[in-house]
Amino acid sequence: MTEQLIPSRRGFPSDDPIFALNAEAQAFKAAGGSVLNATVGALLDDAGQLVVLETVMDLWRELTPLEVAPYAPIAGDPAYLKALVQRHWPAAAGAGAACATPGGSGALGLSLRNFLERGQSVLTTAPYWGPYATLAAENGVAVATAPWPGAGEPLDATTWDAALRALMRTQGRVLLWLNDPCHNPTGRSLAAADRAVLSGLLRDVAALGPVTLLLDFAYLDYTREPAAVAEALADYAALGAQGTVLVGACMSLSKSMTLYGARAGAIAFPWSDDPTLQAALTQSCRGTWSNCAKAPQSLLLRLAREGKAQVRLSAEHRHWSEVLASRALALDAALEANGRDGLRWQGGFFVTVATPEPEAVCGRLKAEGVFTVPLQEGLRVGLCGLRAADAPRFAETLCRVGSTR
Ligand SMILES: Cc1ncc(COP(=O)(O)O)c(C=O)c1O
Repeated sequence: MTEQLIPSRRGFPSDDPIFALNAEAQAFKAAGGSVLNATVGALLDDAGQLVVLETVMDLWRELTPLEVAPYAPIAGDPAYLKALVQRHWPAAAGAGAACATPGGSGALGLSLRNFLERGQSVLTTAPYWGPYATLAAENGVAVATAPWPGAGEPLDATTWDAALRALMRTQGRVLLWLNDPCHNPTGRSLAAADRAVLSGLLRDVAALGPVTLLLDFAYLDYTREPAAVAEALADYAALGAQGTVLVGACMSLSKSMTLYGARAGAIAFPWSDDPTLQAALTQSCRGTWSNCAKAPQSLLLRLAREGKAQVRLSAEHRHWSEVLASRALALDAALEANGRDGLRWQGGFFVTVATPEPEAVCGRLKAEGVFTVPLQEGLRVGLCGLRAADAPRFAETLCRVGSTR
């Protein structure tokens, strides 16, 4: 034990749980086992190779030394921030109060430090992406949840209202992380009616104190329903433009550009021009990572200038969204053939299979070479790494070992 390490920093797991499960799957394979690895969080083709978007790599290769080597401005290149925001909200005049961050994770962490005091709670959905809890813990914040709607079910407005009001009552402010559309880990998005209800609740509670809605846009480019995503973005823009609730987004180049390792993203509040907010964001950048990487920012600027590259990239996104859709359909068909409900994927890299005792079922699946991520609500299945051809084996194994024993 390293005595120099302060007591509160001892006792963490040696590896991130999801990366550890992936390592277990690799070890099972190396030992000669037949593995179905649905733990991966990056898009793989049907040969198991990492998908790297060709349009993006072509742009990357064109970058000149001066687009790579210098420091980027501390808060990020303003043109990059504007281009990133306008990918999602083309009608936004600019990025508003914004800064570059290392991926969406950087944006999430920064939001905690600026919109909550230590000891307070961030509100998000149950289930949520596991590292939300790690980010919160690292920033001295707790996680409160309200339920993500089940497939075909409406948002539970009463529970959401109670959760929002409880936080407003106890801490005088609310920060909501909403990974919508294309929610990780359910693979579903809020319906228009759910969004309207939630927007109303947020507006109501904003009459009692400051409310920040931070949309996590990690997976928007991978959807079965681009028109529904555009509609959702328009609704959130309308809420932001009203100004009662501070609406912002964390954006990431990890999935959208398959630039996971470039660590690029941003946090932006397009409907705020508050210099105090901007100064706080800039201060957080300087005090945490100083400046973000220049190369991915330069790449996005090239993309924003090159219409042909945008068309090509969007065709690549369509292609891979269709691949994900065909995997989701194959999984639903296989689950239904085994007497279970389909999962109705709409977007993103994951779906979640509800199961009692997820940890135990995950363990039994592992023994059969099937690797998933256990959550409180069930098992997260990475469609991004699961071939359609593997769906029958997955469903059959799950149904065989998945019942409560
Ligand atoms: C829901 C969600 N938000 C944010 C992120 C952040 O990713 P990154 O920090 O690589 O942008 C991820 C990555 O898996 C995610 O699943």
